[in-house]
Amino acid sequence: QTIHLADYTPPNWLVTGVHLTFRLDPTRTRVLSRIGFAPNPDAKSREFKLDGEKMTLIRAKIDGTEVTPHVTETGLTCDVPDGPFTWEAEVEINPSANTALEGLYMSSGMYCTQCEAEGFRKITYYPDRPDVMAVFDVRIEGGEPVMLSNGNPGKMGDGFAEWHDPWPKPAYLFALVAGRLVAHPGTFTTMSGRDVDLNIWVRPGDEGKCAFGMEALKASMRWDEEKYRREYDLDLFNIVAVDDFNMGAMENKGLNIFNSSCVLASPETSTDANFERIEAIIAHEYFHNWTGNRITCRDWFQLCLKEGLTVFRDAQFTSDLRSAPVKRIEDVITLRARQFREDNGPLAHPVRPSSFVEINNFYTATVYEKGAELIGMLKTLVGDEAWSKALALYFDRHDGQACTIEDWLRVFEDVTGRDLAQFKRWYEDAGTPRLSVTDSYKDGIYTLHFRQETPPTPGQSEKPPRVIPIKVGLLGQDGKEVAETRVLEMTEAEQSFEFTGLAAQPVPSILRDFSAPVILQRETTNAERAFLLAHDTDPFNKWEAGRALAREGLLAMIRSDAAPDAAYLEASATMARDESLDPAFRALALGLPSQDDLAQAIHDAGGTPDPQAIWDALEALKDARAEAMEDTARGLYDAHQVTAPYAPDAAQSGARALANAALAMITRRDGGAAAQAQYDAAGNMTQQLAALACLLQAGKGDLALGRFYDQWQDDRLVIDKWFSLQVGYAAPEDAAEVAERLTQHPDFTMKNPNRFRATLGALAGSPAGFHHASGKGYALLADWLIKLDPLNPQTTARMCSAFETWRRYDADRQKLIEAQLRRIAGQEGLSRDTAEMVGRILAS
Ligand code: ARG
Ligand code: ZN
Repeated sequence: QTIHLADYTPPNWLVTGVHLTFRLDPTRTRVLSRIGFAPNPDAKSREFKLDGEKMTLIRAKIDGTEVTPHVTETGLTCDVPDGPFTWEAEVEINPSANTALEGLYMSSGMYCTQCEAEGFRKITYYPDRPDVMAVFDVRIEGGEPVMLSNGNPGKMGDGFAEWHDPWPKPAYLFALVAGRLVAHPGTFTTMSGRDVDLNIWVRPGDEGKCAFGMEALKASMRWDEEKYRREYDLDLFNIVAVDDFNMGAMENKGLNIFNSSCVLASPETSTDANFERIEAIIAHEYFHNWTGNRITCRDWFQLCLKEGLTVFRDAQFTSDLRSAPVKRIEDVITLRARQFREDNGPLAHPVRPSSFVEINNFYTATVYEKGAELIGMLKTLVGDEAWSKALALYFDRHDGQACTIEDWLRVFEDVTGRDLAQFKRWYEDAGTPRLSVTDSYKDGIYTLHFRQETPPTPGQSEKPPRVIPIKVGLLGQDGKEVAETRVLEMTEAEQSFEFTGLAAQPVPSILRDFSAPVILQRETTNAERAFLLAHDTDPFNKWEAGRALAREGLLAMIRSDAAPDAAYLEASATMARDESLDPAFRALALGLPSQDDLAQAIHDAGGTPDPQAIWDALEALKDARAEAMEDTARGLYDAHQVTAPYAPDAAQSGARALANAALAMITRRDGGAAAQAQYDAAGNMTQQLAALACLLQAGKGDLALGRFYDQWQDDRLVIDKWFSLQVGYAAPEDAAEVAERLTQHPDFTMKNPNRFRATLGALAGSPAGFHHASGKGYALLADWLIKLDPLNPQTTARMCSAFETWRRYDADRQKLIEAQLRRIAGQEGLSRDTAEMVGRILAS
C-alpha cells in the first residue's frame, strides 16, 4: 500500500497528555497507557483510530468504562465521545522475540527501544505520527538496576523509576532503556548558567570507552550555543550504547540511543576514522534536540527537514573542530559513492519523496546527504548574514511545531524577499544534474557557457532547470589567482557568464568547494588538471583535479590497456612531497577513485564496466605508483611517525593517514616487512589495522589475523573489523568464499546488524568480488538476505541496495542478478520493506 504526500490530512484527535507504565518482563512486558484525547479543530472527521502492531490487547477503557475496540493487524478503531476523553489500555508485548529491533527489544540482556519512524506502535496503541505531540509521563517497574526514559527524573524507588518529559514530542522520540548499566558521568553549564548532568551509559566493562564521547558531547553543546544560540532544555542528558541497532544512533528526547559502534571509543580499539565519526554522530544526535525535536516534521515525507539540516550542522561542527577542506573532501567522496549511485539508479527519489510504501526505506543518502547539500546551496545563495537571520527566525517561529519544507523555505523568503520556487525543485526532482561547460576568451573577456540537464528518474521524465550556485575562480597562466571565488547563479537550461578585465586567457576553477551536487562535464586536458592540482587555491578543486587526473588515467588503462599515466605519477609525487600541504589533505589526494566510481564513469560514457578489469587497472596503477614513488613513500613514512602520546585529533590523524598511505606503497615493494614491523609495534588500532590491511594485501596476513583474533576476541567492535577486513582484502575470485566461510565462524550471528554488515556488507562493498562473473557473490548475499528478512526486515531491505547498480553491467551479470532478485521477491511472507526495495530495483 503506497502512501502519498498529497493525501496528508491533519489528525482527527490531538493528545493532551500521556501516562505510560511499563511492567518489564523479557517475554511478557505489560504496557499500561492513559492518554488524554481532544478533538482537533482543524480536522473534519472524528473517527478514532490508533496504530498498533504485534501486541495483545488485554483491556481498554474510555473515561473509566471498559470498551471493546475493533482490533486489526495494524491498529484499532473504537466508538468514542464527541468531546475530550481519557483512553486507557493495557497491552502485552514480547521484547525477547523482537528481532526486528524496532519498538521495545532486548539487546545483550538490556531493554531498549527504537521508535523512529513507526516503532512506537509496537509498544502500545497510539496515533503514531509526528504531528501528534504530547507531554509524556513514564513509570518503569521491573527491578532492573537502571531504568531510563525521556526528560527529567521523577520519583525513584525500589523496583521502579518515574520520568517526566516537559517538552511535547511525537511518539517517535519516546525511549526507554533498562538493565545492568554503568554511567560515565559529566556535567555541562549552559550559556544561561544552568547545570546539566550528562551520562554515557554502557555495559559493565565498557566504562573505559566513554571519555571521548563525553568530550564530544560537551563540545557539541557548546558549539550549538556559540554558533546558533541553541541551549539545552532539560536537567539531564543521557546517551546509551547498545550492541544491536539497525542504524547509527537515535535522537530520543534527553535519551539518545547509540549503536555501540558509534559511541564507544578507545585508542587501542578504535581507528582515527572511528573517532571522527563518533564525534560527528554524537554532535548530530545532540543537534537534533533543536532541529528535529523542538521543531519536528509534520509527516515522514518531510524527513529531510530535520535530517538534511542536522547533517549540515554536524558537518559545520566537524569543519570547525577539525579541517574544513578535509571534511568537505571526505563528504563529497561519500556523497558520490552513495548518493550519486542512488540518484543514478532504480532507487532514485527526491530529497522530499512524494510517496512511499515503507518509510524505513527512505533513510537514505538522498534524504540525508543530498538533503544537507541543499541546505549548503541555500546558504550560498542567500549569503551568511541572511542565513543567520533565517535560522534565528526558524527557531523562533516554529519552536514546538511539526513543520514542512514549505515552512522552512518560507522563512528564507521572508528574510530575503527572494522567491524560492525554483530552488524548491531541488527537493521535488530526483536525479543528479549534468552541468556541462565550455569557455572562450576574447579581448580581455572570458566567458563560461553552462548547460544543465538532468536524466530521467523513476516516475519523473521531465526535469525543468534548477537554480545552481556555481562557485568559480580564475587562475593566470603563472599559477596566480586572477579572479577570486564568486558565485554564479545559474537559473536557465543554458547560460553564459562573463569575466572582464583579464590580461590573458585564464584557467578556470569551476564548482569550487563543490558548491552544488552536480556532475560537472568539461573537455579539458591532463596538463590543465595537473596545473590545477599544483596551483588551485581552492582545496576542494585542487583535490578534484588530482582525482580527475587519476580517473582519466585509469579509464585509459581499462579501455585500451594503456600504461599508467606518467604525468599523473609525477604530479601526485610532487603533491605528496609538498610540505606546505596538510598531511591529511595529501593522504586524501593519494586516494584513488573507487571501483564503483570507475564503473559509474564507464557507464556514464556509454560503456559497460568490467569489474575485474577495473580491479586490475587499480592494482596496476598502485604497483606503478609504488615503484615510481619508492623513495618518496619511505621519506613520507619516516617523516610522519607520531611520537607524542596518542590523540585522535586532526593533526595526528592526518600524519597517521599519510604514513599509512605510504606504508601501503612500501608494502608493494618490500612484501610486507615494514607492515609486519608496524603491526608488531602498534600501540593503537589505527596503526594495527592499517598494518594488518597491508599484510592481507600482500598475502602475508595469516599469522597477524590469528594474533589479532586472539587479542580481541572479547571485543565485538574490534572483531567486526576482523570480519570485514578479511572480506574487503580478499582477491576478487575468493571474496565470496571468504565471506561464506566467515558466516560459518562461531562468532558470526545474523541477529547483530553490525556483524551481518561486517560480513555480507563487506562483500557487497567489494565490487570485483561481489560482481565476480561466477555469480557466487550475488547468490551468497541473496541467501543471507532471505534468511535475515523474517528476523530483521529493516537491515535486509537496506542491504538490497547492493543490487541497485545492476543495469550498468553486462547481460550475463544482469541475468544472474535478476535471478537472485526474483528469488528474493518470491519468498513467502517477504517483508514489506524488502518487497518494496526489490520491486523498485527490478522495475528498472
Ligand atoms: N533519526 C536518526 C538519525 O538520523 C535515524 C533513525 C533511523 N531509524 C530508522 N529505523 N529508520 O540519527
Ligand atoms: Zn539524524
